[in-house]
Amino acid sequence: MTIPNLQIALDNNSLSEAISSISKAGPFVDIVEVGTILCLQEGVEAIRCLRALFPKKIIIADTKCADAGGTVAKNCTDAGADWMTVICCATIPTMKAALKEVHDLQVELYGNWTFEEASQWLEAGISQVIYHQSRDALLAGESWGEEDLLKLRKLSRMGFKVSVTGGLTKESLDLFKGIDVYTFIAGRGIAQAEDPATAAKEFKAEIQRIWGE
Ligand code: 5RP
Repeated sequence: MTIPNLQIALDNNSLSEAISSISKAGPFVDIVEVGTILCLQEGVEAIRCLRALFPKKIIIADTKCADAGGTVAKNCTDAGADWMTVICCATIPTMKAALKEVHDLQVELYGNWTFEEASQWLEAGISQVIYHQSRDALLAGESWGEEDLLKLRKLSRMGFKVSVTGGLTKESLDLFKGIDVYTFIAGRGIAQAEDPATAAKEFKAEIQRIWGE
């Protein structure tokens, strides 16, 4: 089992706020995500700016794209993104079109996706999924449970690189012990911490403690 990456999700309402968080936490994370909220607020300019700040890090555009996959993906790549996300209910042609234009594509899992669909994503050449507890579901009182862990294990056994996200704190990482998580994606847990650099370092240390054994 490899040691999971740490990804920061920048879900800020403005580029200046995002830059303020990332300028502190950036050196301590492996992957930088231009979050959905930031993509909608600032468009590809946010991708351009983060690419310029972090020429060597993987930059992800979390577009959660549902249609026009090829065009959206090309626009993200042209602005400097490495990877992009599509929503799990997008059609296979949308996913394939997007995959042609980016270095890698991640399917964001929300709602009632099936393992049969997941097999089709693999057949389409997609190897990354993001297992997501949506912030709205978490606000409505849902939390991580055994059913989620079973699905995560099954996706991993199918051959996916599985990223995990949704309200993560460093205390919650222990829940996923023993699962081959590719990346933990933390937004508010780092960006809204009093000290984002310390928060990122603590996430990294906890990942190392649990998966480095
Ligand atoms: C919201 C997202 C977020 O970027 C992701 O869930 C991380 O955010 P947080 O850790 O704040 O829940 O994709 O749609």
